[in-house]
Amino acid sequence: MRQSSLVVVSNRLPLDDSAARDGACEWRRSPGGLSGALHSILQQTPATWIGWAGEMDLAPRLPDLGSVRLRSVALSAEEQHGYYEGFANSTLWPLYHDAVQQPVFQREWWDTYRSVNQRFAEAAAEVAGRHAAVWVQDYHLQLVPTMLRELRPDLLIGFFMHVPFPPPELFMQLPRRVELVHGMLGADLIGFQREQAGHNLAQLARKLLGATATSDTIEVDGRTVRTGAFPVSIDVDEMRALATRPDVVRQVKQLRHDLGESKRVLLSVDRLDYTKGIEHRLTAYRELLRDGHVKVGDTVLVQVAVPSRERVESYQDLRDRIEGEVGRINGEYGRVGEPAIHYLNQPFDRSQLAALYRTADVMVVTPLRDGMNLVAKEFVAAREDGSGALVLSEFAGAAAELSQAFLVNPHDLDGLKQTLLRALEAEPADLAARMSAMRRHIAEHDILAWARAYLTALDHTGRLARQLG
Ligand code: ADP
Ligand code: G6P
Repeated sequence: MRQSSLVVVSNRLPLDDSAARDGACEWRRSPGGLSGALHSILQQTPATWIGWAGEMDLAPRLPDLGSVRLRSVALSAEEQHGYYEGFANSTLWPLYHDAVQQPVFQREWWDTYRSVNQRFAEAAAEVAGRHAAVWVQDYHLQLVPTMLRELRPDLLIGFFMHVPFPPPELFMQLPRRVELVHGMLGADLIGFQREQAGHNLAQLARKLLGATATSDTIEVDGRTVRTGAFPVSIDVDEMRALATRPDVVRQVKQLRHDLGESKRVLLSVDRLDYTKGIEHRLTAYRELLRDGHVKVGDTVLVQVAVPSRERVESYQDLRDRIEGEVGRINGEYGRVGEPAIHYLNQPFDRSQLAALYRTADVMVVTPLRDGMNLVAKEFVAAREDGSGALVLSEFAGAAAELSQAFLVNPHDLDGLKQTLLRALEAEPADLAARMSAMRRHIAEHDILAWARAYLTALDHTGRLARQLG
């Protein structure tokens, strides 16, 4: 087994399931912020990426992809249920997103979550060279840092939480709260999207473990754990290049033609997830149609909602509700050949997404809670000509950076309706000024800057950051 000086561990590898099954292997930008972000930076980095290749209970042998070696971890059907669908996505995910959906606490999921975390820790311990850095990602693997430290005290261990980390009032509901906090604190550096998340962890470490903590350090088990905010981003150059490619420009023309040349296009692109506020958005749009503020003849909504976590009941229920509502709105307000909403339940490749972003007049990103939301940044990167409006929820991490967007509280239906109308009716000069400020920001804060900042903070020397492709 060859050993690496940089090991990344995440639940999901960015692999297409069908591609993996027939033995061929290619990068799939699986819908989801984490794999997309890491995919951009790891392709040219000598590293090992450990993760689950999705769906199957075997661990397929995967060829290297570029300079990154992939190593898959097997999950049995039972483990997928207890660890992935259960503890990670029915307990932690809803709780960490403000409990916008009731978290489910099932005792039997915990043992599976712990044993799968142990397997990931062992896989990392096996491939990491002496004094290597191991960078563990997200809420699925919160116990890995401490487990790994026990196996390999020589390693430099980083942990990054892509989702929000909640305040103690919410976190304290977790039956296994002590183990979860202690599990993360095995890391040398814990990164979050927002500073507040670090303060939440510090408070919890004091309360649950009696640790001493400042705004960016936690003393535990005789060690100092550092915390910090590192807002994740996108490959800005890639999206810019895609958006101006001649075939994408042709797609934009075609989409414009298909949607109706003179129509104003509202666009939303989400994983089909209850945190994304799709239902609130649809209600706002239905009321705008009902009140006559928007008309099917001159405005259209394109909602892309790619299926996600389809075996989790709350996701199945959400899909039924959304599809019912889209059907009702189209039934009531659509005309022959002219629906009020185009609803697309499919994965798209990057160039199709770039074409959609360029086609939109108003991008509507209204999650109820989101760690970051990379779709908002992708839209901004795609708008080379400076046109287009971004309506963005205050509850997305991205709102802290993209303050020139039309910020909105998605729970406030009247506010949401008014904001959509303001964005639809804004002057081009106003939009251009907003867009140019947002574009400047993301150009300086792209995915490479994120990874460099995190890894430099992790090893202090810049050696790890220099390895990035
Ligand atoms: P999350 O990580 O919660 O899914 P983000 O907005 O941060 O939310 O990231 C979503 C990622 O998934 C983006 O990179 C986006 O381009 C991608 N994505 C969303 N919808 C689709 C789709 N239909 N097909 C392919 N990729 C998608
Ligand atoms: C969010 C999470 C990621 C996850 C992604 C897609 O971005 O932070 O860890 O990979 O959603 O979800 P999935 O369950 O398909 O991996």
